[in-house]
Amino acid sequence: MTMAQAWARHAVIYQVYPRSFADSDGDGIGDLPGVVSRLDYLADLGVDAVWLSPFFTSPMVDAGYDVADYRDVDPLFGTLADADRLLAGAHRRGLRVIIDLVPNHTSDRHPWFVEALAAPPGDPARERYLFRDGTGPDGGEPPNDWPSVFGGPAWTRVADGQWYLHLFAPEQPDLNWEHPQVRAEFVDVIRFWLDRGVDGLRIDVAHGMVKAPGLPGTAVASGELLDDLPIPYWDQDGVHEIFREWRKILDGYAPERIAVAEAWVSGPERLARYVRPDELHQAFNFDFLRTAWAADAYRAVIDSSLAAVETVGAPSTWVLASHDVVRPATRLARAERTGGAPGGAARGERPVDPAMGLARARAAALLMLALPGSAYLYQGEELGLPEVLDLPDAVRQDPQFRHTGGQMLGRDGCRVPLPWSGAAPPFGFGPPGSTPWLPQPAGWAALTVAAQRGDPHSTLSLYRDALRLRRELGLGLGPLRWLDQPAGGVLAFARPGLVCTTNCGPRPVPLRRRYGVPVLTSGPAPVPAVLPADTTVWWAAD
Ligand code: GLC
Repeated sequence: MTMAQAWARHAVIYQVYPRSFADSDGDGIGDLPGVVSRLDYLADLGVDAVWLSPFFTSPMVDAGYDVADYRDVDPLFGTLADADRLLAGAHRRGLRVIIDLVPNHTSDRHPWFVEALAAPPGDPARERYLFRDGTGPDGGEPPNDWPSVFGGPAWTRVADGQWYLHLFAPEQPDLNWEHPQVRAEFVDVIRFWLDRGVDGLRIDVAHGMVKAPGLPGTAVASGELLDDLPIPYWDQDGVHEIFREWRKILDGYAPERIAVAEAWVSGPERLARYVRPDELHQAFNFDFLRTAWAADAYRAVIDSSLAAVETVGAPSTWVLASHDVVRPATRLARAERTGGAPGGAARGERPVDPAMGLARARAAALLMLALPGSAYLYQGEELGLPEVLDLPDAVRQDPQFRHTGGQMLGRDGCRVPLPWSGAAPPFGFGPPGSTPWLPQPAGWAALTVAAQRGDPHSTLSLYRDALRLRRELGLGLGPLRWLDQPAGGVLAFARPGLVCTTNCGPRPVPLRRRYGVPVLTSGPAPVPAVLPADTTVWWAAD
């Protein structure tokens, strides 16, 4: 590993969800010029890089994760020139830029799928996707029993009677990764963006691109991305051959370009396979995100994660939030201490105690940022935003909401546009008088960037302080050593120059030994000899 290759091993990367970040033109939807206008904020926060969710040409059935043209910017978000400005502006501020590559499926408006639909069964144009004849009398039943992640079957029948596979919405047909043209096309798309100067790729549904030969049935009834059973469309060995090819392309560029896998797989050993030395650089550690608020659970997941990546010489890539999961401040507010799961909120879920949820989310963030490896933050996490659970059904846009008949509320609640300033919506998200694509709660006046900026106890200040200390102490690299726990429910570990203690329990814990001086606390005030409930404290040697 050369020094130039090291950045992804310890970087903190901020996920921008463009439609909800900043709206420059007042159409209610965030855009690339909006991101450009807020680059100073990101640089000041102290992150190393930005990952942008898709901004490519798209009918927006799945908020841009249905791409119709991989080489252009959707007019909603701006132009290719705006993307270039964003890259230049980020690079000037020392921020790297990662884009979102969606290779598992295209939009149904992609020219290839339009061509496939216009062609008869058996035509080569259909082979870039997964068209099959149906089963049952007249082929009226789907080719197999695979369910869609968004609800309903993963197959849709076309006018001539054949069916095509879509692991997500019907408007997101799965590509056939056995097809040489598919492989060649994505190599070209990757080069297109690397040549423009992007620093990395986030690989959407990296665990789903290759399906088991013969598309065998599965007895699993739901499209759940997480399952401990082998599933013929998730985590197939064939995906690794693709990543090995992509790694060679990335390695051909200087300065270093990286890729991060979105792979929901079963356990850290399976995940480590995505970050073997000749594959991708990072893979989101969703086991960490799924961990319930309990010290023993955190210790177990930290240990197993570090052990697994050590076998392949990669960093662990910690994550607590994204545009696909219930926001931590709400997720951790439940008495039952559940962890995160993809797919958003279910109907009827309510936070039991928002103050406790925020306290735990802040403590979890400080715990995460003390760990060795890289970490991802999701926009608004640094403001302590809660999930918005009471959006009216009429404004919900997530296909998961529609395809489950509203049983799953879906992911709109973590995608509500950011509050930047002011006392009323749009809270500086867009120009005064504009209406954000999802309504912002009135109570967010207290959570705006402007409201939090000057308050040393705000969540924004906590993240900024943590990121500064993490950088100063080099916490992203180096060993982790567990220390004796003063009580059950408490985690304590030493990092170079720092001790991190987290109390996941409901009561304050008196500390039996001195760890140094408290330099940062997720709770209201540093307490030298006591660790408050639901609090992380960082201690420095004095
Ligand atoms: C990934 C994305 C999610 C999207 C899905 C289908 O899981 O993160 O937002 O809906 O892929 O592209």
